[in-house]
Amino acid sequence: MIKYVLLTGGSGGIGSSILNKLLKEPMYHIIVTYRKDEQLSLFESMGYNRITPLRADLTEADDIKTTSEAVKRIVGKKGLYALINCAGLADATPLAYASEKKARDLMEVNYFTPMMLTKYLLNELKVYSHKNDVGARVLNVTSWAGVVAQPFIPFYNASKFAIMGFSESIYYDLKLDGIHVVSVIPGITITPLLSKTTSSAFEAISTASNSEKEKYEKNFSMFANDPSQGPMARFLSTSDQAANRIIKILDKKRPKARYSIANDAKVMDVFVAKLLPTRLRLGMMKRMYGLKT
Ligand SMILES: NC(=O)c1ccc[n+]([C@@H]2O[C@H](COP(=O)([O-])OP(=O)(O)OC[C@H]3O[C@@H](n4cnc5c(N)ncnc54)[C@H](OP(=O)(O)O)[C@@H]3O)[C@@H](O)[C@H]2O)c1
Repeated sequence: MIKYVLLTGGSGGIGSSILNKLLKEPMYHIIVTYRKDEQLSLFESMGYNRITPLRADLTEADDIKTTSEAVKRIVGKKGLYALINCAGLADATPLAYASEKKARDLMEVNYFTPMMLTKYLLNELKVYSHKNDVGARVLNVTSWAGVVAQPFIPFYNASKFAIMGFSESIYYDLKLDGIHVVSVIPGITITPLLSKTTSSAFEAISTASNSEKEKYEKNFSMFANDPSQGPMARFLSTSDQAANRIIKILDKKRPKARYSIANDAKVMDVFVAKLLPTRLRLGMMKRMYGLKT
């Protein structure tokens, strides 16, 4: 029997590894969102009989609605087995140089998109759960940035804290209809997101005065290099490792509400967020980020 999965962010990093792995399981039909035309030929080479690509810019509320309408038509009476909210945007900026547009875009992609897709597709998830022994599921790919704040990524932190809270709250609500809601917390993973984040920090201060640049550059040591190119790279997860863990969760009969899927995520989610007193947590972050304050 075909199981329909809606995957956002299947064109990059972790999402594209998830897509590749889902394609190896014949029961899945994957509806995947994309926003760049060049992506289509790649999907085509993977085989359109198992993938339905839907064009959507997830910063646009109308695109999210149109995507949901298309998903409803595709899944029909079978319902939707899984919604994997994986698309994500990141940014590093001192607040003084931050743009409102970036802040809003991050909230749209990282928080409002998963929120609205879940709401619009609730009926399709319910239909699946009511017709099958195994419940439908919503997997929200969050981040340990949703449990511990870091310097200079205020919008990313805010959006990931928001999705963590949303995800845990609707866990109770959707359970009443047999739908599992899961927060998946990856560790730092080698994907294009890392270089996009590091470069955004220096771009943000490019128009600052020399003294301001000096102030931030001293405190930006963490962003000076893409971590996937540095000595810590061997401790980071690959997108394939993250995807393997996500697929295992997807296939569980009764998944838990929350999974940290890498060692750094476990340390941050369990030890740093829950056990360390605030003063020690802030001190640890200052040292980690080489802050001279
Ligand atoms: N990498 C990490 O260290 C890490 C750690 C913890 C959590 N995460 C989370 O894991 C998820 C996947 O991240 P990743 O590392 O795989 O990032 P990535 O390589 O940058 O991929 C991000 C994906 O999101 C899509 N996307 C971004 N903005 C979009 C928009 N406006 N409309 C439609 N699609 C959009 C991208 O599409 P385009 O190809 O069109 O840009 C791409 O498919 C994110 O939620 C991220 O926050 C990542």
